[in-house]
Amino acid sequence: MAEATVHAAVFVLFGGTGDLAQRMILPALHHLHAADAATRVHVIGVARAEEDDDSYRAMAVEALMESGVKATAAKAWARKFLSYHPIGEGRPDEYASLKAAIEAVETAHNLPGNRVFYLALPPAVFGPTAKGLAAAGLANGKGYSRLVVEKPFGRDLKSGRALNRVLHEGWTEEQIYRIDHYLGKETVQNLMVFRFANAMFEAVWNRDHVSSVQITVAESLGIEDRAGYYDKAGVVRDMIQNHLTQLVTLVAMEPPSSLSASAIRQEKVKALRSIASIDGDEVVRGQYTAGKVDGKKVRGYLDEKDVPNRSRTATFAALRLDVDTWRWKGVPFLLRTGKRMARRLTEIVLTFREPPVSLFQTYDACHLTSDTLVLRLQPDEGFFLYFDVKTPGPSFALSREPLRFNYKDAFGPLPKAYETLLLDVLEGDQTLFVHADEVEASWELYTPLLELDTPVRRYAAGSWGPKQSNALAGMGALGWRNP
Ligand code: BG6
Repeated sequence: MAEATVHAAVFVLFGGTGDLAQRMILPALHHLHAADAATRVHVIGVARAEEDDDSYRAMAVEALMESGVKATAAKAWARKFLSYHPIGEGRPDEYASLKAAIEAVETAHNLPGNRVFYLALPPAVFGPTAKGLAAAGLANGKGYSRLVVEKPFGRDLKSGRALNRVLHEGWTEEQIYRIDHYLGKETVQNLMVFRFANAMFEAVWNRDHVSSVQITVAESLGIEDRAGYYDKAGVVRDMIQNHLTQLVTLVAMEPPSSLSASAIRQEKVKALRSIASIDGDEVVRGQYTAGKVDGKKVRGYLDEKDVPNRSRTATFAALRLDVDTWRWKGVPFLLRTGKRMARRLTEIVLTFREPPVSLFQTYDACHLTSDTLVLRLQPDEGFFLYFDVKTPGPSFALSREPLRFNYKDAFGPLPKAYETLLLDVLEGDQTLFVHADEVEASWELYTPLLELDTPVRRYAAGSWGPKQSNALAGMGALGWRNP
């Protein structure tokens, strides 16, 4: 399909009045349009609410302005490219009426019949919606038909498998785009370039040279007003099973045979399946109590709106993974993530082995430390390679200094993850989307952990998590990097 043709499509946005649609998807679609990348994408917002085209456009314009778009540009786009269709209970006649609405838009704008169905919906209705669309004949049309699903892809292995089964009843895997928005981040995509375009790093990317891998995804935000979802999910389902695990596989995977989506996904699944089952003693769970973040007092998790009084939901977890491959055997992968931590920070830190003989130990004032590669995924995206240099002067004092690279300095602002991902959906590139096998392999790893009843430690909002997280096996003397 020619470039311009793949970008001519109807984009059916289920959950069209919801938070995700307003904060992320509509702004991303507008931005792609403004950047000349998706100039013929007509959006139909679908939801239960009794909106009409005008009231839906007004809502969208407000959301776009909130994201920084000028009123005139937002209004012009909404008038031309946005409409609304209520879905009610999702009965067959309602899907038939949606089909008629899609066809009407296609005829009015002379579109080739390409359709994207984006399910920005509560997980419980992914299955029924996918089925309803397929039953109405919307999984196959004149052009492409693609189904985009947001996480969570199930709650555990059983429900993850069940969801895959239901999706596959009406859609092929090649039509399904499971979004993990971390894969749309430039810095995450760069992990493969960093590794496989720079032979220098790939040569030391293994157990002979690396002593540990730390992955931190710290958030300073709390759960906001998402208690209804979060209290049932908790940190393992919300962050670890998906986002952090994607980072682990990108660091751990072997070079793919090509850059095709299937070659890359194959290597990722292989890496994932090589991770040993998690030792319950190597997991620290935590829940934030009141504290201070960015100088402001914030309440504890139990006092957040709609959180049950005695909730034991973890908002923090740290754990050790062992990737049992020839490349990584014995190298701890230490993961931690939490809400209301000291600052927002996503980093991957590779610590390299110390020299076999420490020539400099005999000198005074000498701090020999391991060389470290820090991949800063957000904010201040970039990387630092720290190593020891001689501090100028008569003595042999060493100091640890970084070589730095900063994305913004080199390239200016980075594209937003959702823009990258939506463009890939239109272009039919599945590389940055999660395959059914990956979902199941990941649930296989984490489901036993969800069933463990490990203690939930307290940590003050604004800290780096419970102190027990500093004692994971393989942590090393340097501990977590808390910049
Ligand atoms: C989402 C989680 O998937 O990712 C949120 O549901 C979390 O709880 C968010 O805050 C973090 O994303 P980012 O891009 O801000 O790191």
